Amino acid sequence: MAKAVADDYLRRIPKAELHCHLAGTLRATTVAELAKRYGMTLPRPAETLYQWPDFDGFLEILRIAAAVLRTPADFTRAVYEYIEDAVRDGNLKHVEFFFNPDYFYPNGIDYPSQVAGMVEGLRQAKERFGVSGLLICCIDRSLNNGDQAVEIVETALAHRHELVVGIGLDGNESVGPPALYAEAYALARKGGLKCTAHCCEDYLTPLQAPPTNYLICRDVLRCDRIDHGYNMLASDFVMAEARRDGLYFTPCAWTSLLHNRPHRPRRIRRMVEAGLNVTINTDDPAMFGTNLGHGFTTLFESNGWGPDKARTFSLNSIEGSWLDESAKAALRKTFRREIAALDKEFGYETAALPV
Ligand code: ADE
Ligand code: ZN
Repeated sequence: MAKAVADDYLRRIPKAELHCHLAGTLRATTVAELAKRYGMTLPRPAETLYQWPDFDGFLEILRIAAAVLRTPADFTRAVYEYIEDAVRDGNLKHVEFFFNPDYFYPNGIDYPSQVAGMVEGLRQAKERFGVSGLLICCIDRSLNNGDQAVEIVETALAHRHELVVGIGLDGNESVGPPALYAEAYALARKGGLKCTAHCCEDYLTPLQAPPTNYLICRDVLRCDRIDHGYNMLASDFVMAEARRDGLYFTPCAWTSLLHNRPHRPRRIRRMVEAGLNVTINTDDPAMFGTNLGHGFTTLFESNGWGPDKARTFSLNSIEGSWLDESAKAALRKTFRREIAALDKEFGYETAALPV
């Protein structure tokens, strides 16, 4: 059966990435090169580095990969390389990177130096590819209790940078339920930072990462956006609330656990059909062996979606972003122009584009 939309259209439709972890974007070859430079022994060679038995094993490799970033120049390179890859593989126009500052402290690089390195990477990528970027300071709940999370936010506020626009919460959700981080989130909001949190991930069951975590993220953490969200599907009540709330979600087409990969397209389809505001993201693209274009083609092939859905996801990624209004308006123009050109090239009728 012919595909409802060409893979090339899906790869080339413009996109903003709202959910990717800097450590998870590191090319294995870059990790190996930097590890050698710093005399750091990796568990395996680059070709097989990105393998793990379970979710905590994945986080362990992620933190090992992160440990090769030791100078501002390493951070610059990491940011630049992800953007270079994502422009090529998925026509990236804007990215919001999670970074976990405490992953890097053991190697002697402080918060301002990390940020300075990433900001320089964003500057270079903007100049070379015209891609914009923002940064999200992230709390790994597997490593940080509520008090430690407050310290992370205090550091972000003490060294405020205009491109670090928000905080996030990642790591193992069963170890750090969202309510633990209420104080850190209150502090961040008071300081003018936006808030998101990983919530209802499907490496856990709906009993371990229950749909009510969404309500905590909404009402206690007062999140502006939600990362993932699949286990919310276990509660019609929570899904109805989320639909009414209208927050943007950042599910990811591919995942750390092989056994979850076949389920993601259906879970994301159900989120879309339930009326949530969905964007499509990569999470940890280099580690998972995916990219923005691949994420789109996988989802569209499984779900039989056509170009209308591609346009919706493309434009949703602007609306869900944390760019200011004028930057969003500029991106809307670019996206609409590129989408119209693609529609013409592929012979897809341009329906009225969603605003
Ligand atoms: N860190 C990197 N990717 C993550 C994910 N999907 N969930 C939780 N923590 C993460
Ligand atoms: Zn994530």
